Amino acid sequence: MSRRYLIAGNWKMNGSLAANAGLIDELLAKQEQFPDIDMLVCPASVHLESVHRQIGGEAILLGAQNLSDQVKPGAYTGEVQGAMLAELGCRYVIVGHSERRALYGEDDATVARKFAAAQAVGLIPVLCVGETLDERDRGVTEAVLGRQLGAVLTASGIAAFGHAVIAYEPVWAIGTGRTASPEQAQAAHAYLRGELAVQDAKIANSTQLLYGGSVKADNAAALLSCADVDGGLIGGASLKAAEFLAICAAAQTLS
Ligand code: 13P
Repeated sequence: MSRRYLIAGNWKMNGSLAANAGLIDELLAKQEQFPDIDMLVCPASVHLESVHRQIGGEAILLGAQNLSDQVKPGAYTGEVQGAMLAELGCRYVIVGHSERRALYGEDDATVARKFAAAQAVGLIPVLCVGETLDERDRGVTEAVLGRQLGAVLTASGIAAFGHAVIAYEPVWAIGTGRTASPEQAQAAHAYLRGELAVQDAKIANSTQLLYGGSVKADNAAALLSCADVDGGLIGGASLKAAEFLAICAAAQTLS
């Protein structure tokens, strides 16, 4: 079965106007080698406009890393409204990244509000879920994933997942160089898809499930080969054009 992988770069708090321009130049130069994958970049919010201008059309998709849970404009100093991101050319927005959950106190309810706020303005949320090492060691991985996904399912309903992406990012694999094995990734993805399928098998089949956590050029093919892995959410390796392009090439070969 052919499938269209989504290869997403989460640049986190990295980049500069000059560095981003160089990176995007390199991606644009090679982009046509990957006609069967979707390439997404998620720069810092202040860089969205310049990256959007450079990308031009839709050869590379644009996403944000975060948005406000508030849909209407107002007195929310420092926040960025989903509509503002959409106006800047974003199609996607990451919600519930483990760094936001751990460092900025975003709980399941906040993440669920952000997911809904994204969809309210037509953005496709990339909902991040994942267990810590302690949770994996205690054998509660599925309980954690079920709770994180369940909060959004309860708030937005299964139909919302017809316009959403889920990223499984085990916290212990993020930025550590320690990636989940293909078997661990597949098991988590199968569990997540199963949770969706309980409510709607068709939506479960079509929802893209990305794996994130120390994805690199040399492990991408093994992870992307898993039956329920539909793409990757790439941190560190997305900042190096050659690495990111090699991951895209692995996906293109498999698609
Ligand atoms: P790394 O690829 O650097 O482990 O980061 C993964 C991640 O958090 C992507 O959102």
